Amino acid sequence: MTVNERIEHSRTRITKLVFPQDTNPIGTLYGGTAMKWMDEVAFLTATRFARRQVVTVSMDRVDFKVPIAKGSIVELIGEVTRVGNTSVTITVQIVREDPFTGGQELAIRGELVMVSVDDAMVPVPLESDRK
Ligand SMILES: CC(C)(COP(=O)(O)OP(=O)(O)OC[C@H]1O[C@@H](n2cnc3c(N)ncnc32)[C@H](O)[C@@H]1OP(=O)(O)O)[C@@H](O)C(=O)NCCC(=O)NCCS
Repeated sequence: MTVNERIEHSRTRITKLVFPQDTNPIGTLYGGTAMKWMDEVAFLTATRFARRQVVTVSMDRVDFKVPIAKGSIVELIGEVTRVGNTSVTITVQIVREDPFTGGQELAIRGELVMVSVDDAMVPVPLESDRK
């Protein structure tokens, strides 16, 4: 598979409903919960791309553009946007969706860097022979 095909095949979407336990005291999605979900979708995306053990080495700037109310549907989209030697950058978007109108809006965006590692946590080139 070419790198572009691997990027295409690794794109990951997770759909969730925002429950009360996911929210802050004003009833919108709690930032820490959003970042946990972003790490999860980035981990899945990077694993599908690398087909190796990966770990998060960096969560870069995260922009919270609009609040996400309790009861919203959210879609998390992870996509490889940079391929390094042992690392990949995953851009994660969280789109909020009104469950009744279907209206969608980009609510949160961030970038995470994931590193491919071996059993001793030593970074491994993404293109080396796979197990
Ligand atoms: C991930 C880890 C093994 C990398 O070790 P390291 O000594 O920094 O390794 P290197 O310097 O060889 O860097 C490896 C890659 O990570 C990148 N990297 C390292 N630190 C980075 C940072 N802060 N931001 C972005 N990229 C980073 C390097 O640029 C390099 O990428 P490349 O090979 O594509 O050029 C080490 O930092 C670690 O174990 N971190 C803890 C991971 C963890 O517990 N995560 C949470 C649970 S998943």
